Order: sequence, then C-alpha cells, then structure tokens
Amino acid sequence: MEIEKIAILDCGGQYTKVIDRKVREMNVKSEIFPIGVTADQLQGFQGIILSGGPGSVWTEDKALPYDPAIFDLKIPVLGICYGMQLINQHFGGVVLPGVKTEYGEMVIKVDTECPLFKGLDETQRVLMSHGDSVAQLAPGFKVAAKSEAIYVTIYDEDRKIYGVQFHPEVDLTVQGKAMMANFVYGICGLSGNYVLEDRIQTAIDKIREKVGDEKILVLVSGGVDSAVSAALLVKALNPDNVYAIHIDHGLMRKNESDLVCENLRRQGLKNLIRENATEVFFNTPVEIDGKLVGPLTTLTDPELKRNVIGDIFIQVVRKTAESLNLDFDKTFWAQGTLRPDLIESGNPDVSSYAHRIKTHHNDVDIVRRAREKGLVVETNWDWHKDEVRQVARALGIEESVASRQPFPGPGLAIRLICYDGTNNLTQEQYVTFNQMMQQVGGEYQGQILPIQSVGVQGDCRSYRYLSAIYGAGMNFDWEQIYQIGKQLPNETNFINRVAYVLNKTAVAPIQAYPMYINMENVDLLREIDAIVTGKLNIKPISQVFAVLLPVGASGKFSVAIRTIITNDFMTGRPAFIGEDLPKELVMEVVREIEANFPQIDLIMYDVTGKPPATVEWQ
Ligand code: XMP
Repeated sequence: MEIEKIAILDCGGQYTKVIDRKVREMNVKSEIFPIGVTADQLQGFQGIILSGGPGSVWTEDKALPYDPAIFDLKIPVLGICYGMQLINQHFGGVVLPGVKTEYGEMVIKVDTECPLFKGLDETQRVLMSHGDSVAQLAPGFKVAAKSEAIYVTIYDEDRKIYGVQFHPEVDLTVQGKAMMANFVYGICGLSGNYVLEDRIQTAIDKIREKVGDEKILVLVSGGVDSAVSAALLVKALNPDNVYAIHIDHGLMRKNESDLVCENLRRQGLKNLIRENATEVFFNTPVEIDGKLVGPLTTLTDPELKRNVIGDIFIQVVRKTAESLNLDFDKTFWAQGTLRPDLIESGNPDVSSYAHRIKTHHNDVDIVRRAREKGLVVETNWDWHKDEVRQVARALGIEESVASRQPFPGPGLAIRLICYDGTNNLTQEQYVTFNQMMQQVGGEYQGQILPIQSVGVQGDCRSYRYLSAIYGAGMNFDWEQIYQIGKQLPNETNFINRVAYVLNKTAVAPIQAYPMYINMENVDLLREIDAIVTGKLNIKPISQVFAVLLPVGASGKFSVAIRTIITNDFMTGRPAFIGEDLPKELVMEVVREIEANFPQIDLIMYDVTGKPPATVEWQ
C-alpha cells in the first residue's frame, strides 16, 4: 500500500513544524520543502500546505519565489496566512498591507457549506497574525469567512484550492484540528495509513540500511529522545556494535547521570561508557569561526555557551571513540534529534526561511559537517516529542523515562544567567518602564533589570530585559500578575520576560552582579532545582525547573521558577498558580528554599508565555 503524504511548503513561519505535527497526528506522512521547490519534486504527494511566514507577497524583495506550476499539479492546496495571500495573488487577486492588521485570538463566522468547515460550528475562535491581507479576491474564488473588512477564507472548490488567513494548526484555533482533518481526509481524500508501527519499522530499516555491520556510537543524555535512539539501535543492529556514551558535563540535574546509566543497562545495552568530563567542559576554550572562545566559565552569551558546549561534546566523543579504537571521522554516530529541533535551529535540510531562535546543541556546525559526510544517524528524525514518547512505550522503555520532562543538552549552563556587569539600559527605557508600570501595574510595582533572556516575537528571536514585579507576596491575584506579564512585553520593545516575586511584598532597588558558570554556582542551582522539580513536577505541567539569577536587593543571587504548559513547546503558557498548580505547593517550595539557601534573596515565578518569552531563559 502506498503511504499517503502531504507536502508542506515552508514560507518561513515559526508554525511550520506545528503544521507538520498536526498532519502526522492524522497518520499521514508529511515532508517539508522550501517554498521554492519545483512542481516536479511534488509528484506523488496527495496534498500541499503552504505555511505562513514573515514576508509580503506584494513586495519585490520580501516575496518568496515559487514555482507557479505547483498550482497546475491538480493536487489540493491549503494556504495558511502568507500561503493564502500567495494563492490569492497567484490567481489574479490583490494583496495589500494595512487594510487591517490583526494579531491574536478572534471570533469569526464561517460558511459551513465550504468543505473546509464541514460539520463545524458557524462561530469559530481562531488565531490571527497578519499585517497584509487580501484586498481584492482572485477571480473564480469564493469567500467562506470574513471578519470586518478582511477575507478570512477563500476557496475554489473545483480546483480544490483553499486559503485561510488564520492559523488552523495552533491550539488557539479551537476547532483547527477539525479543519485540518477536513482538508486532509475530506478534500485530499486520504485515509491516514501512516501508522506508528510502520514508522518504527521504517526507522529500523533505515538504520540497518545505513549502518549495516558497522559499529555505531550513540550519545545518551538521559532524556526520552536518546533512550529511544539507543533502543532502536539495539533492535536494528547487532548489540555488540552499539556503543552508548553518556557524557556527564557537570551540568546535569541532581543524580541524573546515575539514573541514566541504570536505565540504559536495563535496556540491554552491552557497551555503556560513562565519561565524567566536568573539568573539560568548564575549562576548555573552543575555536569558533577562527576565533578562540571561552572557556565556558568566562562566557555570558547564550549562543556562545551552547556552541562551546556542543563543540566540547564532540571533542569528548572523539576521544572516547579513540579509546575504543574507533576512527571518529569514519564512525557512525546516532543522536536522538527530533524533527522540530531540526526545524527550530533553522537547519536548511528542514526549513529554509525560519529565523534561528536558538542553536540546538546537536545541530552545531561540526554536526552539520558530519551529517554531510553521511555519518550521523538521526534515529528519531521522523518524530515529534509526543510521538517519540509513544515510540518509547511501544519499545518497552520504562514509563519514568518515556514520560520524562525534557532537559536541554547544554543542561544547567543555560539556566544559570551569566552577566558581565554591564548595564545597557538607557535612561529612556527606565522612564518608559516606570510609566508603563503605572499604567498596567495596578497595586503591583516593578523594576526593570539589566539582565537579558531569549524570547521569540513575531517569528524572530529576541534578547531583551527582565522585569521583576512584586507587591503582594503570596497573596497575589494570579489574573492580574499574568496580565502584567502579557502587557509589559507587548507594549514595550525592550522587555520579553516578567517574573513575580513570591517571597517579598516590598523590594528595595534590585542590583545585578557579575556571574559566571563555576562549580559552586552550578551546585547551588542543582540543589534548588531538585527542590523545585521534586515538588512541582505534576500534571498538567509540561516542564518545570529553576533558573539562577545574578540579581538581588539584599543578596547576590535570586531564583526564578519556570513552568510551562504546552503541547508542542512551540507556544505555551506558565502554569497558573491556584489553578494548574496548588498555591500551597508553591509556598512549600518557597519556604524550603528560604530555609536551606540563605544566599538566595528573591524567589520569583516566571509569568510569561511563549511567545513572547521562550521556555528556557537562554
Ligand atoms: P525553548 O527555550 O526554545 O525550549 O522555548 C523549547 C524546548 O526545547 C528545549 N531546549 C533544548 N533542548 N538542547 C536541547 O536538547 C537545547 O539547546 C535546547 N534549548 C531548549 C527546552 O528545554 C524546551 O523543552
């Protein structure tokens, strides 16, 4: 039976991989191509989805080139946001900026006669995010939804071409899944024959085909991704040829390396090597673009930290390989990189236009070069996080690993906010901040701090300042502080994260102090993180951890508790205290940190969603 598949043409939107995941959830294979793909390459696909993107179809410089013949293939097409505008323009309509700019959730009315909305309610809550819009409808197209002056859905039923201005792929579009299903099953006529068992078998076949009787190294971090990677290799190959290496970079969570190694042994891995490489990671400078960078203990920039750690990882693996008499430059190595990780780092294999938000450590340059040589085996290339958990269960990996919360490869390094003491905040920014606080703060006060963290705003990476807000200690009104967390980043262009101080009502001026990675700081963070995760790792929280900050009003260290509730880690919101997370539990954490760590001054709770912040601070 031929596997059904849909082509996703990437126009640079951050949600391209969410489209990918939604299609795969429907048991249909998907492949992502750059929008410039030729029509020839799309033969054999049963549907095409054009993603959203930051460009503008009506400009010469920001319109993305595409092959017009993709519309002559007689394959159904769904265009989302930029994709819809491209369709409209291609078929002779007009797209213009500024007819109306809409960002955020909206309620629209849809025509349920349109096959895309078949069986759905007339009133739909959708996520809209666009500056341009259709000003004049392409001839032959009908309108299935409008909001005020804007065409929200256009379609040509005979040619099976559909365009939606909103984003059906994200959870904020409440019935988006049903709309996607109408396209995939109804309009494209697919049945969903790409089931998990077949996909596991495909992964195993691919590994066998590539590696054969050769030896292979697999890097295991302890997360579910690398556990699945190792388990697939053991299943696919002669277990004697599989060498699992666990590198303890000194930035792991409490007791994690012990747990990891125990679990791997239970999975039948014969050759397990544990490298305790803290000294190397902390003390080795690395050459990046011809310049010597580091060592890690001197860096503040998050991307440099990631790159240095990524590079040293490879150096350590190389040494380990040599000690096993393997030539690293000729030996296969496996990684548990997931599809979305490859998309997010702007990897040209997967997405050509997406903005690089963070470099994923298993996608640094050296990995890309090895990939070009065909030596990297990405066993999980075909799966998103929730799918890899299903695969783990199907392979018999124990539940504690299958459902384990994600932990970034660079570990605690990116949760320790390093700072060199420079304050680049301008007087104007302080004034604007104080004015904003007066407008949106209500009974709460706030301070803007000279330390920055990473965010994602309007499809782009941001590196902006943190605001600490306070006023009621544990007697806060969640709705109010959450609102402030939304408003400050929205209404300024220099803040992307807001944290509420839980353990104090009044806070003297907060100072920032230089801080770098060292054993002592990492140990401190590790211990506090164990308290935070030990108590707050409950459903429905997708990820929870502690962040160490170099700020304080009466001490040099503070802590932020970060929680996130998300399906795909692309967008998400903090756990609402009092709703998702019992207040008593949070108070216990605060009390325990206060009792055990007198050096910690402020204990904050990150109240920012993604966007505008990212999950990790760095
Ligand atoms: P962000 O911070 O990008 O995180 O919103 C989304 C998810 O990805 C994890 N993450 C990483 N995982 N290496 C990893 O293996 C990394 O460099 C990395 N950065 C972020 C993060 O923990 C969250 O689950």
